[in-house]
Amino acid sequence: SQPTSPVASDVASRTPPYTRLLKNLRQVRRLFPNRPLTLAEKILFSHLDNAEESLFDNTNNGTDIRGRATLKLKPDRVAMQDASAQMALLQFMSCGLPTTAVPASIHCDHMIVGEQGADTDLPNSIAGNKEVFDFLESAAKRYGIEFWPPGAGIIHQTVLENYAAPGLMMLGTDSHTPNAGGLGCIAIGVGGADAVDALVDAPWELKAPKVKGIRLEGQLSGWASPKDIILHLAGRLTVRGGTGYILEYHGPGVQSLSCTGMATVCNMGAEVGATTSLFPFTESAHGPYLHSTHRGSIAEQAAAIAASPDVHNLLVADEGAEYDGEVVIDLSKLEPHINGPFTPDLSTPLSLFKDAVKANEWPETFGAGLIGSCTNSSYADMTRAESLVRQASAAGLQPKADFFITPGSEQIRATVDRDGTMATFEQNGGVVLANACGPCIGQWSRTDGVANGEANAIFTSYNRNFPGRNDGNRKTMNFLASPELVTAMSYSGRTDFNPMVDSIPLANEQSFKFEPPTGIDLPKAGFAAGNPLFMPSPPTPSADVDVAIDPHSDRLAVLEPFDPFPQGELTEMKVLVRVKGQCTTDTISAAGPWLKYKGHLPNISENTLIGAVSADTGAVNEVADVDGQTYTIPELATKWKGQGQAWIVVAEHNYGEGSAREHAALQPRYLGCRVVLAKSFARIHETNLKKQGVVPLTFVNEEDYDKLAGCDEVSTEGLHEVLQQSGSGAGSVSLRIKQKGSGAEWRIPVRHTLSKDQCGFIVAGSALNLLAKKGRG
Ligand code: F3S
Repeated sequence: SQPTSPVASDVASRTPPYTRLLKNLRQVRRLFPNRPLTLAEKILFSHLDNAEESLFDNTNNGTDIRGRATLKLKPDRVAMQDASAQMALLQFMSCGLPTTAVPASIHCDHMIVGEQGADTDLPNSIAGNKEVFDFLESAAKRYGIEFWPPGAGIIHQTVLENYAAPGLMMLGTDSHTPNAGGLGCIAIGVGGADAVDALVDAPWELKAPKVKGIRLEGQLSGWASPKDIILHLAGRLTVRGGTGYILEYHGPGVQSLSCTGMATVCNMGAEVGATTSLFPFTESAHGPYLHSTHRGSIAEQAAAIAASPDVHNLLVADEGAEYDGEVVIDLSKLEPHINGPFTPDLSTPLSLFKDAVKANEWPETFGAGLIGSCTNSSYADMTRAESLVRQASAAGLQPKADFFITPGSEQIRATVDRDGTMATFEQNGGVVLANACGPCIGQWSRTDGVANGEANAIFTSYNRNFPGRNDGNRKTMNFLASPELVTAMSYSGRTDFNPMVDSIPLANEQSFKFEPPTGIDLPKAGFAAGNPLFMPSPPTPSADVDVAIDPHSDRLAVLEPFDPFPQGELTEMKVLVRVKGQCTTDTISAAGPWLKYKGHLPNISENTLIGAVSADTGAVNEVADVDGQTYTIPELATKWKGQGQAWIVVAEHNYGEGSAREHAALQPRYLGCRVVLAKSFARIHETNLKKQGVVPLTFVNEEDYDKLAGCDEVSTEGLHEVLQQSGSGAGSVSLRIKQKGSGAEWRIPVRHTLSKDQCGFIVAGSALNLLAKKGRG
């Protein structure tokens, strides 16, 4: 098929608002007349709702912004994948707005199984998830969100091909959203409640990240690929090394990389915990990519901005910009790496991998090689892998391991199909799966007879390798590598095979050795558009479309607004559970089979705190009511909800650490939780609680934690006044405790961190209630 170009209005809605951003950048320059800025700072600061207020508040005074200031940002765009879009849309709907404030898109990719191949797997998965897809599509039509149906592609590849653009700031409800940083964006992965901030035009808050410089020198060659940059870096930084940082790539080595190669590097910045990663605009890489994906006008505008003097240059870091630490990588010396098993930062250079297999007693053979996914399915990835398949095929070889290919988008699939690459794979034993996440997110029905619990190895070009991630078997060791390395190794089927030096024996007593892979960055004939059924719906809202939610569904339920704060203090709440030790968002809202209910708050609430250990008894998920009768935690919470009994959770340090999962705040709130009293909170979860109308409080004296127990009665003193002081956020709060049984009473002092805006959320019942109220005027 012929390449199609989006109509002019599409390109307009996909172009970053350069005029406004440059105006904002000029204002930032006035605030910091002599300070060189990193690229990340330029893009972030030019998206501030009010630059002066964010950068010069009373805590930082414009001098100590990184790691301290709270940035109130106005992102340009939102992208959502099907699993996380459900709760984001349900929350958005409860605001009663006719359309989204910024352009948005929905991508159906996470719920498609990989098993026999796209032709059978896709219809089966659509049938199994029909009500969810129908809901997403109808909501998209009603609110003017572009809907990419099942089979259209994986969110991050589709975003790169259509929406990412230099200087853009976007939020995505998926951890690998930073993939778009390969095209010079600030793209951040968030939970649904954060996405809703952008969808309703409320400023989105982010603690100003530090900026780590990653300086690239030299040039890749031979077997080394962009994937190896991030596999190597993950080993150096570890899974926590990027936390609180934006990784900003710079240096002469950047010029030699392709746009899609940069995207692969940014994609896996998530594996080191980075807020996001990004590359500067380079005309040689980004110009051709934007042109070939029908966005020539964006390429021209970006080139003009990048060519302007430093002070007006939004798309490249200033000369002399300072980084919070720097890592230097010489691409000329970089060799292929293999990371894993079970953690993406266990990084081994290929030349040492053979020894590592022996030393760690990893399996010597592996059953499957899987390439593609959102991380590695560019035209370059596919054609480099194809070059190896052709070499092996000419020598009469077939892959020894099962070989699967997951194209990242319909555009890529159709293009490599047209250009014969797909046929090369399929004629040589490759199985092409649907353009979706499939085996990357546990949607893989393995047919090779590996039993659950059986130790075995696989090689993938994906990004994550936590236990159970791909096939649900926690003993499957997933080794991450570049697609070309996975392809070559699949022909040997051995984990200790190094295609750079080793040969594969042939029948005629000869042997075959691979030459280094070769590929093409962009298709000479342009990208093929593919199946028109996979095109997105137009971004025009239609108020007459009913959003499809079956009232009897067990997977979707309309979100009812929460009650506003009572006219007075919170009185006679009961302690549901005093949690002992670590309490992550997974402890509060478990994943696994519960993910199915992400769009149904009452049903998913049945997992609330099921991982929590009671400090009273040491038991997991077991608490007692006043009469001594024991229940699971969600059972007692549900019982109390039915009785109109408000309750609180008491916890230790870093309550709510882990992911940004908003269900961990929504569910307790839904079941009647009004306060969480902890020794300390994880920052994102504390904010999520406030957004849902739950008051997070911390102990002034940590030893008071030991004096509380389940079913004690708790009343606030001073909280109502704090909330009424039209949000100054000041004022002290204490809790009056009435001990269960003895009736003894005492007071404990507590702290709150409610800002002016957050007091408004609590009073209204939730941030969304407040927005809905404002929307109604
Ligand atoms: Fe999907 Fe895996 Fe990427 S789940 S979005 S292909 S990380």
